[in-house]
Amino acid sequence: MSSIIITIDGPAGSGKSTLAKLLASRLGFDFLDTGAMYRAVAWASLQANLMPQDTQSMGMIAAQLPLRMQDKHVFINDTDVTLDIRHPDVAQMASIVASVPAVREALVTQQRTVAQGRRMVTEGRDQGSVVFPDAVCKFFLTASPVVRASRRYSELTAAGREVDFETLLAQQQERDERDQNRACSPLVKADGALEIDTSDLTPDEVLAHMEQTIRSVVRL
Ligand code: DC
Repeated sequence: MSSIIITIDGPAGSGKSTLAKLLASRLGFDFLDTGAMYRAVAWASLQANLMPQDTQSMGMIAAQLPLRMQDKHVFINDTDVTLDIRHPDVAQMASIVASVPAVREALVTQQRTVAQGRRMVTEGRDQGSVVFPDAVCKFFLTASPVVRASRRYSELTAAGREVDFETLLAQQQERDERDQNRACSPLVKADGALEIDTSDLTPDEVLAHMEQTIRSVVRL
């Protein structure tokens, strides 16, 4: 069967993950959270006590990582790291490993392999621009920095983590800058992507807009 790929890119807190999951379930598609893959490499790099400048080892970890994504859980070997990879320290390290070309090369190859022959909603930073430039439909979600940090704050506090809003906002800005300015596959709106500012929209409103757009270009 030929694959049907829908890509959703955008900065942290723009609503990508929520919308990608909702959309996949609405359309009966699979869902791929590529940020979780970078976070898994970051988690393994932290476990290995790598310094941020040890990019060669990060590339080796990415190429050999026994990563498994199953039923909304992320496993490395048999360790369930689903919650651990959401920790702010892992997020910071993820943005560092994501700027390493060898890490990106390894994960992009895995993403393309996973998508073969499948109907899939993929979300990340480079899905429409680099990984799946021929995707049937591409979206680029945005939201204001304060709205994005507030969403992250709610998520983390709901998960029982103690976080300071101003710290989150500052870390988000640091990560945004790194994601947008890195030499290799920076966060950009892909050619042909539809940009949606989700700041003042509910997930259902964004979902309806996306579904309508998809159904106007592809018969499912
Ligand atoms: O979406 P997220 O916060 O889980 O992503 C974690 C980090 O990985 C973030 O710094 C951006 C980076 N990333 C990337 O560079 N390319 C992707 N396709 C997905 C995530």
